[in-house]
Amino acid sequence: MSEPTKAASQPDEPQNIKARIKASYDAIAPAYNAWTVDHFSVRLRYLKEITDQLRPANANSDAASASPLRVLELGCGAGVPVTEKLLVDLAPVHITANDISTGQLDLAREALGEHGEKISTVSTVDWVEGDMMALQFPDASLDAVLGFYSVIHLPQEEQITILERIGRWLKPGTGLFLANFSGDEMKSAIAETWLDQEKGWMYWSGLGVAKTEATLQGAGLKLETSKLEKDTVDGAMFHWVVASRTA
Ligand SMILES: C[S@@+](CC[C@H](N)C(=O)[O-])C[C@H]1O[C@@H](n2cnc3c(N)ncnc32)[C@H](O)[C@@H]1O
Repeated sequence: MSEPTKAASQPDEPQNIKARIKASYDAIAPAYNAWTVDHFSVRLRYLKEITDQLRPANANSDAASASPLRVLELGCGAGVPVTEKLLVDLAPVHITANDISTGQLDLAREALGEHGEKISTVSTVDWVEGDMMALQFPDASLDAVLGFYSVIHLPQEEQITILERIGRWLKPGTGLFLANFSGDEMKSAIAETWLDQEKGWMYWSGLGVAKTEATLQGAGLKLETSKLEKDTVDGAMFHWVVASRTA
């Protein structure tokens, strides 16, 4: 994706980041979602790494009687393709799908239903609007946490804080984390008209590979995959991580 590389690096964080990001995604959601269809395959490839561990294909799965997995998706966008795929492949699953953008969540509800019922009768989703930094869960309560192209919108210090929280929320020994980060260390990258959208002001940051890895390990997460991958569509570099919560 084109986020960090086409944006201008800035020495400082701008003001009102969250309100501006929300306003931008509310305005550009249809343009972003159409543009990113070409990036679906990389998401689904990494997603399979964790769905295969959470619900192995050879498991004796009686979806109606199995207990629902509990999954958190950070910055779920319009719910396609990831939330949709989770509802099916992890059934039964309960997903808390969070996003700061009202427009994105409206599109998600339209596509998947108020609680995912357009996709599954055994799995459910709660759409939770707001800053992911306001989320709270009991310790050791989640089977998986995912964040596709979303944690990158937090300032560096908040990225550290949310990774530490994720480590506490995941179930020791079994919990899994999947997300992508900027390939580069950057305090603040800004695009004024991202995707050529007049209302497409956008902000990203990155801790860099070494600090992201160290933060994850400090949060009790063991790296299973930690890989820099050049995006096939426009050549931006992302750091993809799959990690498991240690026992
Ligand atoms: C690049 S889009 C990715 C959407 C989706 N995960 C996907 O892969 O297509 C980033 C999403 O994160 C959301 N977002 C940005 N900052 C956020 C925050 N602080 N809390 C929750 N969601 C946020 C945006 O509204 C947007 O829907």
